[in-house]
Amino acid sequence: MRYHKMCSFRVMDLVREAEKYEDTIHFEVGQPDLPPSPRVKQALTKAVEEDQFSYTESLGLLELREKIAAHYKREYGVEVSPERILLTPGTSIAFMVAYLLTLRHGEVLGMSDPSYPCYKNFAHMVDVEPLFMPIGAEDGYQLTPTHLQQHTMQALHISSPSNPTGTIYSRENLQALIAYCHAQDIAFISDELYHGLVYDSKVVTALEFSEDVIVINGFSKYFCMPGIRLGWMIVPEALVRPAEIIAQNLYISAPTLSQYAALEAFDDDHLAKTREAFQVRRDYLYEALSPYFKIDAKPDGAFYLWCDVSAYTDDAVAFSEELLREIHIAVTPGIDFGSHGTNHYVRFSYTRSIAHMREGIERLVSYLARR
Ligand SMILES: Cc1ncc(COP(=O)(O)O)c(C=O)c1O
Repeated sequence: MRYHKMCSFRVMDLVREAEKYEDTIHFEVGQPDLPPSPRVKQALTKAVEEDQFSYTESLGLLELREKIAAHYKREYGVEVSPERILLTPGTSIAFMVAYLLTLRHGEVLGMSDPSYPCYKNFAHMVDVEPLFMPIGAEDGYQLTPTHLQQHTMQALHISSPSNPTGTIYSRENLQALIAYCHAQDIAFISDELYHGLVYDSKVVTALEFSEDVIVINGFSKYFCMPGIRLGWMIVPEALVRPAEIIAQNLYISAPTLSQYAALEAFDDDHLAKTREAFQVRRDYLYEALSPYFKIDAKPDGAFYLWCDVSAYTDDAVAFSEELLREIHIAVTPGIDFGSHGTNHYVRFSYTRSIAHMREGIERLVSYLARR
């Protein structure tokens, strides 16, 4: 059974545990509490009234793919043909499509340790070997060509900004990684789901350096629509038809109502406010936690803080359980994200209001003082 190699997505187990207490403070799940643009809600209502309950074509509504293409032109100055864009049920399913497109049975998928937990599990589902490459503060939590040189792999999957560290791959490093992958015939898969949620610098898309990469993004984070289950991927021209065939078989089409709603998601004024709100939250939580936990770098993107808790414990899983049990604070233990020293880390997300987080910090500070 392929399933036997998989492990639970620990944070989702934790969400269930955290629901047991009415007064839980949520630092665990990476789910924005802010609403999408009001225009999204109107578009959704209109789609319901107009009985938009059929499948769409497997690549997705052309009108939405055109809007995504316009987004790349506006945000990055990159020309992307809507023909190369594919809508998926969440970015999660896009990973499956990407691996089916680029990897054969038994081949190797490279990823950083730590990295987003589901990558390895998707690899197991398609009988691909995940290869974990440790990264840390010393390399700015970024994979570089030097990491890759020590291994053989057929595809590389990175995320920038990354979950769990919030790191952004620098322009130079991203370009060098892509060049290395092209030279070695390694497929390059770039998870850009946290683009938009970037606070101090500008983020670059892998598409700025090559058309021969797979870029994955979606509406769950910056656009604040996680439950609408809609992602997109941009594939090289030659992979459009294979991707379409996979989509036809795997999910027929992405949710239709969600696609209609997303037509109004690119509301720049609303998105600017979302970004600003997360920046304020990041600044608050970073300042509040820094005196208690070592945080290697103030993260530049996404909505997570990767905190070293080794001053308090050697077992971050037990520490997370203790925090939930004793003071009803939910955090995600680092081992969800890999095995390279991750049991000294917990991930705090800043997806809730400052008032909610402040209550959590008060509880935490007084608990650590008496512990
Ligand atoms: C880096 C990263 N990629 C992908 C996903 C999956 O997102 P979704 O399937 O909601 O688009 C997540 C969710 O937390 C994530 O953190």
